[in-house]
Amino acid sequence: MYRAQILGTGSYLPKDVVTNQDLEKTLDTSHDWIVQRTGIHQRHIAAPEEKTSDMGTIAALQALEMAGISVDQLDFIICATTTPDRTFPATAVKIQANLGLKKGFAFDLQAVCSGFVYALSIANNFIQQGQGRYGLVIGAEKMSSIVDWSDRSTAVLFGDGAGAVVVGAAPSEGSDKDRGVLGTYLHSDGSLEDILYTDGGPSSSEDVGKIKMNGREVYKHAILKMGAALEEVLEKHHLTSEDIDWFVPHQANERIIDALADRLKFPQEKIIKTGALQANTSAATIPLALDAGVRDGRIKPGQLILIDALGAGLAWGAALIRW
Ligand code: UT7
Repeated sequence: MYRAQILGTGSYLPKDVVTNQDLEKTLDTSHDWIVQRTGIHQRHIAAPEEKTSDMGTIAALQALEMAGISVDQLDFIICATTTPDRTFPATAVKIQANLGLKKGFAFDLQAVCSGFVYALSIANNFIQQGQGRYGLVIGAEKMSSIVDWSDRSTAVLFGDGAGAVVVGAAPSEGSDKDRGVLGTYLHSDGSLEDILYTDGGPSSSEDVGKIKMNGREVYKHAILKMGAALEEVLEKHHLTSEDIDWFVPHQANERIIDALADRLKFPQEKIIKTGALQANTSAATIPLALDAGVRDGRIKPGQLILIDALGAGLAWGAALIRW
């Protein structure tokens, strides 16, 4: 059998940095409130002309370079995004064109903040089914385009950016000692749609809408559901948190990450956090954090990595990867 092994990572953050102090000038908020409640100090914001596909393309090129894979070797591109360039076609096909890839297939995946976990799961399935040997899994978001910049309860939380991984088919005996994606566990509950959504869309308002969130409710579900997904992974693979080398969670709020770490007994030094400097970049947070961990030498071949996310839907999930 084959598994999707992560062969390279890449990332892109827009040049413009907006600090909490910058937001104090236009919103009834404070640096201290934002840091205490979320851990966020700043976020990167894309230029008006900078599109999700532009950011995704740069991250993808970096990942390809690290993997030592040429564009022509790619069989598929999955772009997890909730902020596509256009309603259609998919941002992934624009990235395909930007890369100059003339074969294979490319499509977007909409699972909001859990998009990367979902996309990695699908990529792994394609590879297991023999539908591709090499693929790109990208999380790319221009969240600034759907933030209501007059709403302090959401405007302080989000940022823009893109992360990408190249996956390749690695032979496997089916053992958890093999490298690659060892398991993915996806969940959603659409009855919770109204606690986090945009108040628009093509078939409802005919515009994109802006983010609306009942923060306290989402916070409560995030801890419960992300925690349950982590426990599910550990149980299914007969592991304890001590066996995990790196916990790489979605970066919505440092307090959520710390609560999960307490519940599962992950020491702080085993957690990769990027929220302070990047805020919540939705589907891009996990591949951005993976890239940070790889490039600064924390994540090493053979290690066990646990990723975990929750976002609008609600949709959530976790995955276990042997790097
Ligand atoms: O990525 C998708 C998943 N998203 C998440 O996981 C987000 C989950 N939710 C959260 O992270 C937190 O709920 C927030 C960071 C959004 C809010 O933190 P909180 O501790 O839950 O605050 P709260 O919403 O309960 O608000 C507390 C107070 C309120 O004032 P009153 O009613 O107590 O007078 C808010 O109006 O803080 C006020 N507030 C603010 N104050 C200053 C809300 N936003 C701000 C702000 N600056 N930016």
